[in-house]
Amino acid sequence: MDFKRTLITTALPYANGPVHIGHLAGVYVPADIYARYMRLRGQEILLIGGSDEHGVPITIKARKEGVTPQDIVDRYHKIIKDSFEEFGISFDVYGRTTSDTHRRVASDFFRRLYDKGEFVEKTSLQLYDEEAGQFLADRYVTGTCPHCGKEGAYGDQCESCGTSLNATDLINPRSTITGSVPVMRETTHYYLPLDKWQPKLEKWILDDHKEWKSNVYGQCKSWLDMGLQPRAVSRDLDWGIPVPVEGADGKVLYVWFDAPIGYISNTIDLVGDDYTKWWKDPETRMLHFIGKDNIVFHCIVFPSMLMAEGSFNLPDNVPANEFLNLEDDKISTSRNWAVWLHEYLRDFPGKQDVLRYVLTANAPETKDNNFTWKDFQARNNSELVAILGNFVNRAVVLTHKYFDGVLPAPGELQEEDRNLIDEFRHLKEEMTTALDNFHFREALRLAMDMARAGNKYLQETEPWKMAKSDMTRTATILYMAIQTCANLSIAFEPFLPFMSEKLLKMLNGDKISWDMLGCFDLVPAGAKIGEPVLLFEKIEDDVIEAQVQKLLDTKKANELSAWKPEPVKADCSFDDFEKLDIRVGKVLECSNVKKSKKLLQFLIEDGMEKRTILSGIAASYPDPSVLVGKEICFIANFPPRKMMGIESQGMILSAVNPDGTLTVIAPSADVAPGAQVG
Ligand code: 2FM
Ligand code: ZN
Repeated sequence: MDFKRTLITTALPYANGPVHIGHLAGVYVPADIYARYMRLRGQEILLIGGSDEHGVPITIKARKEGVTPQDIVDRYHKIIKDSFEEFGISFDVYGRTTSDTHRRVASDFFRRLYDKGEFVEKTSLQLYDEEAGQFLADRYVTGTCPHCGKEGAYGDQCESCGTSLNATDLINPRSTITGSVPVMRETTHYYLPLDKWQPKLEKWILDDHKEWKSNVYGQCKSWLDMGLQPRAVSRDLDWGIPVPVEGADGKVLYVWFDAPIGYISNTIDLVGDDYTKWWKDPETRMLHFIGKDNIVFHCIVFPSMLMAEGSFNLPDNVPANEFLNLEDDKISTSRNWAVWLHEYLRDFPGKQDVLRYVLTANAPETKDNNFTWKDFQARNNSELVAILGNFVNRAVVLTHKYFDGVLPAPGELQEEDRNLIDEFRHLKEEMTTALDNFHFREALRLAMDMARAGNKYLQETEPWKMAKSDMTRTATILYMAIQTCANLSIAFEPFLPFMSEKLLKMLNGDKISWDMLGCFDLVPAGAKIGEPVLLFEKIEDDVIEAQVQKLLDTKKANELSAWKPEPVKADCSFDDFEKLDIRVGKVLECSNVKKSKKLLQFLIEDGMEKRTILSGIAASYPDPSVLVGKEICFIANFPPRKMMGIESQGMILSAVNPDGTLTVIAPSADVAPGAQVG
């Protein structure tokens, strides 16, 4: 499909932390694939990105670290911007919402709406934290979600069910600043009456955009069915763009009012006054790449703002993705449950394409999906290395072996050659349709089918055998194989741009375009083919195990920080306590009880005799011999009890750790075996 021009925006990530694989799979990788594909098609496009630097997520982080919000956004904007660049996200501009341009553009936008009378000023009771001395909005307040009943919903959104909320909707609200229960206090705010735009939104989305992805269309429909309400677009905060209206001191623009205007400001930063052709020419198409939690803001709130302003285009499509989980658990910044891009780039230098590949092959396009390190390894080793890398390597190595690296002229084409060409043309057609419809997983699978077709071709034509008898036919086969490599460098460019560039260099190629895909005369006969370069390398088990261990450590640290001691039991009298005879003993022997996973058998020197005690702590001591020679505490006056045919004469005392493991209690210095504990 051809368009006059396309403006592609990507959700501006909050600069309160680095970006992780969830952000990449949901937004940036698909947007980059599409942008690169459109550039290959020769289409005029812009890929707009930037950091979202206002709002409560930033101030909460600053408060937690005892630094200023500006410190936080300066730090994370740089990390995010640099890691996107290294990862090959081909932004035409990556701006920030604390820039002077943005402050001016967002302010002017608000002022225009204000002057047109598009806001309603309303005084109402809002949640106020008396201890912190401030109003609580958005993530400053948490409580039970009125829709799904889950605890931990924020004042602007419930992360469990995705519903967008007002702070006053929360049941049992609590301040996230002080933990206190808020009181109600009067304040005045500017509201955008979304209800005014409901009929237009209904026609625009429900009638005119039935082609939108069903997850996007469905969410919009349910919002519209519920009936839109006016939404506050100002906040009582000291971080943000001041409301540009007299008498609005201490009020700033709501972050979801200013952030999407960031797309406009960043375009202006890039092209100046020419921005109008990108935002106001009806022949320009606009696409918003976002995650599912942003759907309402991009399909209802921002379009209402644009309609109220009146001179801007509305988006043509909002191909939002669902969420990516990590090892079957929800990705979470606060629980550090994520694979962070800047850490990946450090741990896997030069392997940008591997992550791009895995995230696209597993993209959460229609439902939530899962990232596992095992799958990452398998896709690298058995797809990138074994299919794509292997084919290119064979083609280039054989051309060097039989023709000194100079591409021979082909002889007459035979059926298997014509089949290969047909297959590529057919796959190209399917790929084009998939890409045009934002089906990137499918498009990548088809690109991989091209590499598979190349392997099959070599398997069938066997140039290594042919070279023994027929060099003309061998020449044709390798000519075809090298043309196939050139095709792969085009087909994979949107997905694996680093690989594509290396491959093109090997072929001494220069410019590529989508039109060239499916052509088998891309590298001229006589061209010098470069030395074979390994495009992908096997990822070994130890590398993957190290990543899995890192996550296990995170899980453990989370459990520890969430752990709370059991409540104290009901009172026990001194007499009751006195009845227990707790003693120190020395471990003489300790081993697993045969056929029992749970039990360890101790032989204890108790100062008087030797006694056997069984204890259910085997899982916590994989090597029981570590306990031999240690002093431990045990209850000496429990009546003997038989387990697994062995009599246990007491009970070893141990502490229960937060992760459920047990640690045997030992005296802090040498004590004579048999000493009483009291
Ligand atoms: O959800 C988020 O991370 C927001 N910072 C996205 C903003 S998108 C746009 F409107 F800027
Ligand atoms: Zn909910």
